[in-house]
Amino acid sequence: MQNTIDTIYNRRSVRKYLDKDVNPDLVDEILRAAMFAPSGCNKQPWHFVVFNEKEIIKQIKDMHPYANALETAPVCIMVCGDTQKEMAEGFYQVDCSAAIENMILAAKALGLDTCWMGIYPWKDVMAAFSQKFALPEHVKPFALISLGYSDVKKERPKRYDSARIHYNKW
Ligand SMILES: Cc1cc2nc3c(=O)[nH]c(=O)nc-3n(C[C@H](O)[C@H](O)[C@H](O)COP(=O)(O)O)c2cc1C
Repeated sequence: MQNTIDTIYNRRSVRKYLDKDVNPDLVDEILRAAMFAPSGCNKQPWHFVVFNEKEIIKQIKDMHPYANALETAPVCIMVCGDTQKEMAEGFYQVDCSAAIENMILAAKALGLDTCWMGIYPWKDVMAAFSQKFALPEHVKPFALISLGYSDVKKERPKRYDSARIHYNKW
């Protein structure tokens, strides 16, 4: 298990995975971490649809314009927002993002890698996923997360930029 700061710095979006299954207990741990994210008024307006069958993951890949990661990923999790549970309009997107960040960091800490692929805010992609999975009207497809063991090595980029930091005034 990596410490939190190392996990944050070492996480990268991975789009090529080994042909190796992920233990369902690890998937469960990652979803538990997602549900520990902060959310507006603690409303937790999220749902998670887990796909771990090759055929359905391939179908999902073909529905998304930038889902190369699903070519090899053994697991894909669709994160959905619930407009009946969010604190107020516009909160589910923020709350689901917090849950996803927890997921991708938890995965990294457990030796797995991920790629966050947005569904929201593309209306046509959202409509396609809503229809394909017959989501209730109040449940909105938000993002796909690929999950698996990385088949690539990625360097840590340089990102710290002091010009983006403002103390006491703009
Ligand atoms: C809201 C959002 C949407 C993204 N959508 C995609 C996507 O559709 N396909 C993809 O391969 N990566 C996607 N990414 C991953 C970004 O490309 C990636 O985070 C970025 O290039 C930085 O690289 P890193 O994650 O390795 O730090 C998305 C990331 C975010 C936060």
